Amino acid sequence: ATPVPVIGIDGPSASGKGTVGARVAEALGFQHLDSGSLYRLVALAGMREGVALDDEVALARIAAALPASFEGDTVFLAGDDVTNAIRSEACSVGASKVAVLPAVREALFWRQRAYRRAPGLVAEGRDIGSVIFPDAPVKIFLTASAEARAERRYKQLIDKGMPANMDDLLSDLRERDARDSQRAVAPLKRSEDAALLDTSEMTIQQAVDFVLQQAAALRS
Ligand code: CDP
Ligand code: CDP
Repeated sequence: ATPVPVIGIDGPSASGKGTVGARVAEALGFQHLDSGSLYRLVALAGMREGVALDDEVALARIAAALPASFEGDTVFLAGDDVTNAIRSEACSVGASKVAVLPAVREALFWRQRAYRRAPGLVAEGRDIGSVIFPDAPVKIFLTASAEARAERRYKQLIDKGMPANMDDLLSDLRERDARDSQRAVAPLKRSEDAALLDTSEMTIQQAVDFVLQQAAALRS
């Protein structure tokens, strides 16, 4: 049997992975996995249990038995709606801390693999094309300048009526880029077989069209 197709979208924070991935999944009728939300959930669960975010054994145990569920755009942790909580800056930073721990990544590996179901999967993260689904027939590396990405996060916060400071956002983003790119296990890096798309000057629809074009061969 032909393997279930996977479209892997990797890239740094605010490159547009989530928005583009969701639209592509909808257009194709594919399953959708936002792998970053799993790392965010592990960080949140750890913080709620008072676990230090470098306690690999405790965090791997949490990751292996993560009581998380997804209903449309709503995310639950042990029955609590944590959709907004996992998007907080504390969870963004926390996620990138727990993500350096090999035992946490190992525990989340099989959970991510289980999303590969017919008719296909759109998965986004940092290591989808390199580690989770290295045989994905379509791989995209989305990126954008740090300034463009900080600007997007700024707009998102202002739109939600939340406080936002451009300098803080830019330095947090650079710090997280560095941690994600420099870690020993599954660092953020474009694999040679991934198509590179810089969305700094692009609309979301242009990025969606690019991915759909890359995926066109899957439909025939
Ligand atoms: O998932 P990721 O962190 O890569 O990014 P996102 O959450 O999908 O996008 C961050 C913000 O940038 C969202 O508000 C998008 O609407 C916006 N965006 C944009 O303005 N232009 C793009 N080409 C891509 C995303
Ligand atoms: O939305 P944004 O791109 O800012 O972050 P995210 O995709 O939700 O991921 C949050 C953090 O989880 C990242 O900074 C990475 O450290 C980590 N992550 C990872 O290591 N591997 C993945 N496949 C996805 C996320």
